[in-house]
Amino acid sequence: MRVSADDRNPLTRLTLAQLRQRTSVKWRLHPPDVLPLWVAEQDVPLAPPVADALRRAVELGDTGYAHGTGYAEALAGFAAQRWDWPDFPVGRSTLVPDVMMGVVEVLRLVTDPDDAVVVCPPVYPPFYAFVSHADRRVLEAPLGPDGRLDLAALDEAFRRARLLGARPAFLLCNPHNPTGVVHRRDELATVAELAARHGVRVVSDEIHAPLALAGARFTPYLTVPGSGNAFALLSASKAWNLAGLKAAVAVAGPDAAADLARMPEEVSHGPSHLGVLAHTAAFAAGGPWLDQLLDGLDANRALLGTLLAEHLPAVSWQPPDGTYLAWLDCTRLGLPTETPGDGPGIVTDLSGPARMFLDDARVALSSGHVFGTGGAGFVRLNFATSPAVLTEAVTRMGRAVATPG
Ligand SMILES: Cc1ncc(COP(=O)(O)O)c(C=O)c1O
Repeated sequence: MRVSADDRNPLTRLTLAQLRQRTSVKWRLHPPDVLPLWVAEQDVPLAPPVADALRRAVELGDTGYAHGTGYAEALAGFAAQRWDWPDFPVGRSTLVPDVMMGVVEVLRLVTDPDDAVVVCPPVYPPFYAFVSHADRRVLEAPLGPDGRLDLAALDEAFRRARLLGARPAFLLCNPHNPTGVVHRRDELATVAELAARHGVRVVSDEIHAPLALAGARFTPYLTVPGSGNAFALLSASKAWNLAGLKAAVAVAGPDAAADLARMPEEVSHGPSHLGVLAHTAAFAAGGPWLDQLLDGLDANRALLGTLLAEHLPAVSWQPPDGTYLAWLDCTRLGLPTETPGDGPGIVTDLSGPARMFLDDARVALSSGHVFGTGGAGFVRLNFATSPAVLTEAVTRMGRAVATPG
């Protein structure tokens, strides 16, 4: 398979042979004949400003402990420029090891053990695993049939959450993984109203924020009226493919400053200095590279639509507004459904359509059932790859459905 190089598109820069030399989980969990379109890693080289920052640190042996507010300041500049967030509160932010550890630490600040944490499935599986592991109870308020937040379901879930414990929280995924929905400002304003009415604290996971695709606009939750006691978690990790370079930022709204002040000091010891340098360079100087990536992702989103229509016409989807994730409804394929008893939360668990596509098409996808209620019968496909790999993968998937084996 040839990957045609377009110098401006980061998604066409690496050959499959180069990618197969990678040792990260995307490339090593499955055998080499499998095309991996599952975990949220991208098939891109590093953005040049990020590579330069890392090279400089390695040359200097600058591999000690992280220090200062450089990451938050770079993020503040990016937020002002891209998200119309002119007063990003660097003084109310702190470094955390990564977004999920940040989520857990913030939940420890604003909830107590056994309190309810509301999530909107189908949603990023670790929302279940990390929250339960932190001894909080997950309460589901499923997305509506249109794939957007169901505000009536949230109202009801917040009411129930408050009955279950004194300090409930809502873990918002903004933009939403796996559907790629970018929540609108009016939806988020209603979330804030409902949260205030029921005494629910909002924690907004905004890791996919820089990945709003053409036609969509990301709204930072903390810029919405009524969000004063909320927290947000931000990171360069997804947009610039830095998941292995651990770092993220937790930000508190003005009425959550006292909670943030209770964050244990050791939490800020978790991020790696190299991670902080890389993420800082991404937000400070990685904008032009990001724009090229977003163009490539926009083109892949359109290509995926064409490929699905041609090879898998029975699969339906709603093209995402953001992220590089496509949430594919395979329920009309008549495939075996997920193994009963498999619960949400385990990212690598495979059954149903994803199992068939791995076994028969040699394409690795994420299995819908691990995303909670509403996920069974779906698969999540990561299209942050070259058009050539995407084409080959969907062609293989179509062939596997046409010739059940
Ligand atoms: C919504 C969401 N939150 C968090 C993460 C993980 O972030 P981190 O590696 O910084 O914990 C991901 C990774 O794909 C994600 O999609």
